[in-house]
Amino acid sequence: MIDKRIVITGGAGFIGSHLTSKLVEMGNDVVVIDTLIRGNKIPKDVLAKIEFHKVDVADKAKVIELTKGADIIFHFAAILGVDIVADNPIETMETEVNGMQSVAQAAIQNGISKVVYASTSGVYGHLALEKSVDEEILVDPRTSYSMAKRYNEIYLASLYEEKGISSVALRFFNIFGIRQDNRMVIPRFFEQALNNEPITVYGTGEQTRDFTYVDDAVKATILLAQKAHGFEIFNVANEKEATIGTVAERIKAITNSNSEIHHIDAPSKRYDYEIGRRYGSSAKLLNHVGYKPSTGLDEGLKVILDSMSN
Ligand SMILES: NC(=O)c1ccc[n+]([C@@H]2O[C@H](COP(=O)([O-])OP(=O)(O)OC[C@H]3O[C@@H](n4cnc5c(N)ncnc54)[C@H](O)[C@@H]3O)[C@@H](O)[C@H]2O)c1
Repeated sequence: MIDKRIVITGGAGFIGSHLTSKLVEMGNDVVVIDTLIRGNKIPKDVLAKIEFHKVDVADKAKVIELTKGADIIFHFAAILGVDIVADNPIETMETEVNGMQSVAQAAIQNGISKVVYASTSGVYGHLALEKSVDEEILVDPRTSYSMAKRYNEIYLASLYEEKGISSVALRFFNIFGIRQDNRMVIPRFFEQALNNEPITVYGTGEQTRDFTYVDDAVKATILLAQKAHGFEIFNVANEKEATIGTVAERIKAITNSNSEIHHIDAPSKRYDYEIGRRYGSSAKLLNHVGYKPSTGLDEGLKVILDSMSN
């Protein structure tokens, strides 16, 4: 993707800021729309090269105006973080649904032929599987966040059928990396370890996740955006299971921390989010674009640690 005019909603967030940097580096004109509720994570040198608008994605008229002449919209604005979503289910759903309505209307009105949407592996819900999940299995969203993500996936399918706007929905599996904040487990464990405070693991720590490095996720996102045609859903996963207990131990080890690892009960509001096992298959992604994420957990943790001392 070169010389394109690209709009990124949520472009100042964790994944969005990495996507913004990469698309600028590739030579595109990037417009970011973000309310900055999580601060601005776009590096200063990149910020100087983009057009930034502090705008709510729900503001349809503004989004239509700012997307004029765009070739593609990456829709990444969202409310996320388990505790925040659990405390704000209505706002979470409204942001998803209203945001998608603005993006869809803008694409229709401005003749933008492609939308790339950040969905979530959360749509797989509590499905207890003995194998990694692929896109063909039935979904089981349980939370306001994942229900709204699934709703938007279905909406995008109809947007192609009815208006011919192509899109991809990316089901991200626990993306981690530099600039993520402590709403998420890896930055939280780093913070606790570096402060020599107890590293707090919910439950036994045997629950698994598939930690996917942010640069890999961004690479997959751009490759899929280039090929987008029709409507497709893709897992973006590293295909490796890691227990939360292992993550705590690895972070304690690489930070040379004196922290103890404490196992505590998860707050009841987190119940729907406490999934025993989740890891994904990126076979469809590999098949489609010849690439799948491969950065290991240890390698990613080391990059994060190194970035803290620079
Ligand atoms: N991080 C993950 O592991 C993960 C996993 C699955 C899906 N996702 C999805 O990927 C996308 C990016 O996630 P992230 O980790 O970068 O989150 P993030 O919270 O760092 O970024 C989201 C950005 O959206 C912005 N935003 C929120 N509400 C807005 C609104 N109404 N209008 C405009 N901007 C708004 C925020 O200010 C923030 O900068 C989200 O859609 C998220 O649901 C992330």
